[in-house]
Amino acid sequence: MPLSQRTTLTQFLIEQRRRHPSASGDFNALVLDVALACKAIARSVAFGALGGVLGAQAGSINVQGEEQKKLDVISNQLFVSANEWGGHLAGMASEEMDEPYNIPSIYPRGKYLLVFDPLDGSSNIDVNVSVGSIFSILRAPQDVIDSGRDVTAADFLQPGCQQLAAGYALYGPSTMLVLSVGTGVHGFTLDPNLGEFFLSHPDIRVPEETQEFAINASNSRFWELPVKRYVDECLAGKTGPRGKDFNMRWIASMVAEAHRILMRGGVFLYPRDMRDPTKPGRLRLLYEANPVGFLMEQAGGRASTGREPILHVQPTSLHQRIGLVFGSKSEVERIERYHREPTPIKDDNPLFGERSLFRD
Ligand code: AHG
Ligand code: MN
Ligand code: MN
Repeated sequence: MPLSQRTTLTQFLIEQRRRHPSASGDFNALVLDVALACKAIARSVAFGALGGVLGAQAGSINVQGEEQKKLDVISNQLFVSANEWGGHLAGMASEEMDEPYNIPSIYPRGKYLLVFDPLDGSSNIDVNVSVGSIFSILRAPQDVIDSGRDVTAADFLQPGCQQLAAGYALYGPSTMLVLSVGTGVHGFTLDPNLGEFFLSHPDIRVPEETQEFAINASNSRFWELPVKRYVDECLAGKTGPRGKDFNMRWIASMVAEAHRILMRGGVFLYPRDMRDPTKPGRLRLLYEANPVGFLMEQAGGRASTGREPILHVQPTSLHQRIGLVFGSKSEVERIERYHREPTPIKDDNPLFGERSLFRD
């Protein structure tokens, strides 16, 4: 397509802003700074072994107790340095930083909070499989904006429905930025020659119907009964209660799974399980579940803990983990229903079969 007919990310944001004549432009500038960080991470990822960026960061464990990869640390630094100087942020929080990051005093402070997982799926780095970055933009509490004081973890503990914007970058065969500023979900592909994101996937909608699910089945012995039931029914295929065969995928990068689901439907589960009662789920609420939840809802899909919409959860700590189910609306609603209903103990129990008392 000729350049004159393409829409850059900048142009897209300016056109969105025209709908809000009172907007200062700070928000757009912030999104562009985030996009710059993602472009820089895309370059680092692309050099792979030649860039000396593979492998673990010697002796470095993050607040989750997980070993940091070199690229986790590099990506975090790129996010911080692209976003700290612009005057748009009151503070940042990241998977890779134990405490909230305060904007250094040499820079002005602004009214937004940026929360991010700088590199998602980092176990994929060393095997050259897709990774991503995922972020959420919140408004800082009014007293932070008025006083310019340092931020605390409490300032970030806002339910996901209060997000102003969310998005992710996917570093796959091509680099994409998928974004919602509350007006649907739009995908941009990086033109590697120009170093510019161009609108390639306007108004993405999650397909309603699906025959594909994603879950790490090595955890099945720890799953709760409603999840076991859902997966068993998918696996039963055509001759089971669902009456159709299902396909399965597991990339081990939530960003890449979210992208597949936005493109062709499906459902993703990393549910709360019984492995370790101190860790209710694997994924983190503020910088994984909430932004993906915002994107799914904006694209006509759904995101849930299994028990309540993810965007309604009141966070209690910065690095809180949570059970997460997202994707095609009807599948997520079905999983929520299974959490509400008594669950079959055995597949062959007639009470819970196709025409049981407990079915709609
Ligand atoms: P991160 O690399 O940021 O720690 O996140 C990885 C997450 C998520 O992206 C993925 O869905 C999940 O962990 C994979 O977990 P398993 O290794 O348990 O499958
Ligand atoms: Mn992650
Ligand atoms: Mn990460």
